[in-house]
Amino acid sequence: MSNLQNTSLKSYNTFGIDVSAEHLVSVESTTELVKSLAEINQKELLILGGGSNVLFMNDIKGTVLLNRLAGISVEDENENHVWVKAGGGVNWHEFVLHCINENWAGIENLSLIPGSVGAAPMQNIGAYGVEIKNVFHELEAVEISSGKIKTFSNKECQFGYRESVFKRALKGQFMISSVTFKLDKKPVFKTSYGAITAELERMKIEDFSIRAISNAVINIRQSKLPDPKVTGNAGSFFKNPVVPISLAENLKKDYPEAAAYPVDDNSMKLAAGWLIDKAGWKGKTFGNYGVHPKQALVLVNYGGATGQNIYDLSTEILADIKSKFGVELEREVNIIS
Ligand code: FAD
Ligand code: EPU
Repeated sequence: MSNLQNTSLKSYNTFGIDVSAEHLVSVESTTELVKSLAEINQKELLILGGGSNVLFMNDIKGTVLLNRLAGISVEDENENHVWVKAGGGVNWHEFVLHCINENWAGIENLSLIPGSVGAAPMQNIGAYGVEIKNVFHELEAVEISSGKIKTFSNKECQFGYRESVFKRALKGQFMISSVTFKLDKKPVFKTSYGAITAELERMKIEDFSIRAISNAVINIRQSKLPDPKVTGNAGSFFKNPVVPISLAENLKKDYPEAAAYPVDDNSMKLAAGWLIDKAGWKGKTFGNYGVHPKQALVLVNYGGATGQNIYDLSTEILADIKSKFGVELEREVNIIS
């Protein structure tokens, strides 16, 4: 366990926002976690994994608790499946690569998503046709007020698109300490989403494998998403909005090329990136921050921007999209004020 005072969080968030934390405590075991929960002021507590889905608005009063719980273990297996448990502090992409090396299938489409295993259930991370709810078995979480460990099933997590119970009813009440996934020994390749098939063709891959799919996803992601080591960002800043079919149909009348996907009988999902792009924001720069030139859904800090700069830009975009298309966007990134 380490404990630093009045430390800059610049290298602890992928936006690269330079705020400070009064106390920065790093825990490597549940014993250390329970001990430090008993010692700190729980009313001023922020749990942080890789800091890849947060926007810091101010210096953080109280304690930032870094989840560094390690370890990957096989809990059970049969002919078809393996149940793999990973500590909440394990890096997500390293976990994906570990599973690919072991030939355990199911999360290869989620390659190269930054952050930690423990944060993955928070917003039910998703990409290229897979969400973690598809492979999730259960998680363990430490209740902050009592220090007790509770197990949550898939159903209890109430997963939705970029949603879970931990962002809603149980917000701020638990620290996710481990996640167990049910992975496949006999892979079912998911290549129909987005540009995966085209990328596999470009790579001249004829025999599909989970490693080839992972590499294709990595190539696609690297071609349009900024590398946080180079340019500060937190991935998609907004969610893709789910709207009534009538609204999507009206939009399609004006813009037949608008990206829209069916959700159910009553609603469709629009591509927020397309709307922001069409509204003229893509690549716009305001000094040291702006909208990414290759993906309009990503706001970027070119160095030295504040959380307020990025937040104010997002507010302007929200208002503009509402006025131009009648669509209410919602922020995906967690605003920490
Ligand atoms: P953090 O940013 O540290 O935390 C996020 C939130 O979860 C905070 O509110 C924090 O308090 C809370 N939290 C973190 N850990 C825990 C825990 N153990 N217990 C309880 N609460 C916790 N997301 C996708 O879904 N799909 C993508 O394709 C995707 N692409 C991205 C690409 C880039 C370049 C970037 C920068 C981000 C992308 N993201 C994507 C967003 C981000 O990677 C995920 O949301 C990731 O799961 C965040 O993990 P983290 O450890 O960095 O969380
Ligand atoms: N588009 C544009 N202009 C843009 C950006 C996108 O026209 O500037 C269009 C694309 O041409 C495409 C559509 O919008 O027709 C969708 O774009 P893309 O495939 O790039 O995906 P996205 O909807 O913008 C979502 C997730 C990503 C995830 C990808 C791949 C959300 C909020 N974002 O992005 O997740 O990696 O799909 O599955 O759901 C994240 O959550 O941080 C994230 C990066």
